[in-house]
Amino acid sequence: MSHYFMEDKSLEHDIKKIDYDYAGNKFVFTTDAGIFSKDRIDYATDILLRTIPVLSGSLLDMGCGYGCIGIVLAKTYSLRLTQTDVNPLAIDLTKKNCVENGVDSAVIKSDCFDNISDSFDTIIINPPIHAGKAVTYKMYEDSLWHLNIGGKLYIVTLKKHGAESTYVKLKDTFGNCEILYKKKGHYVFCCTKS
Ligand SMILES: C[S@@+](CC[C@H](N)C(=O)[O-])C[C@H]1O[C@@H](n2cnc3c(N)ncnc32)[C@H](O)[C@@H]1O
Repeated sequence: MSHYFMEDKSLEHDIKKIDYDYAGNKFVFTTDAGIFSKDRIDYATDILLRTIPVLSGSLLDMGCGYGCIGIVLAKTYSLRLTQTDVNPLAIDLTKKNCVENGVDSAVIKSDCFDNISDSFDTIIINPPIHAGKAVTYKMYEDSLWHLNIGGKLYIVTLKKHGAESTYVKLKDTFGNCEILYKKKGHYVFCCTKS
């Protein structure tokens, strides 16, 4: 079975363009078959983007898909952007979308933080639930070591995807976890590195 986080070279291309408006900026994203939420900006991603406060400094967009989170926030707040995904198609699309939306980014293929050495002011993850807890919990644990002091991790998740256990895991890992958004089964969590 093919998942959006696996490389599947047998897939037929299905190139699409997605329009997205945010804070007065207009974005266009190219997507393709085999990528997460290829027809529209994912509902949870949109909630996350509209919940996050004003940012500054450096941002890591972990599990970037076609790059929408990092591109939107880096352009809006002039951030130093790094984006990473395990799926090579996601890396190619993110590079293309950065160029097409006029955003500079270090786009790095990586399994979780394996190829990431820097620390960041902000890390944002719409986690790959279907990859399992071994992957998502590793992303949360390793985020702690890749945040600057005072830096923040933002996560969006759903009640049906285990939001309650994610909250417990984040609180155990960071010693704090704020619920920024909780509506209709969607949650946005924020943890601060002390
Ligand atoms: C839920 S999607 C979110 C995509 C994008 N950030 C968005 O909001 O549209 C999760 C992403 O995590 C990626 N992913 C899955 N396993 C990963 C891993 N081990 N390391 C890095 N990224 C991974 C998937 O390829 C996918 O692009």
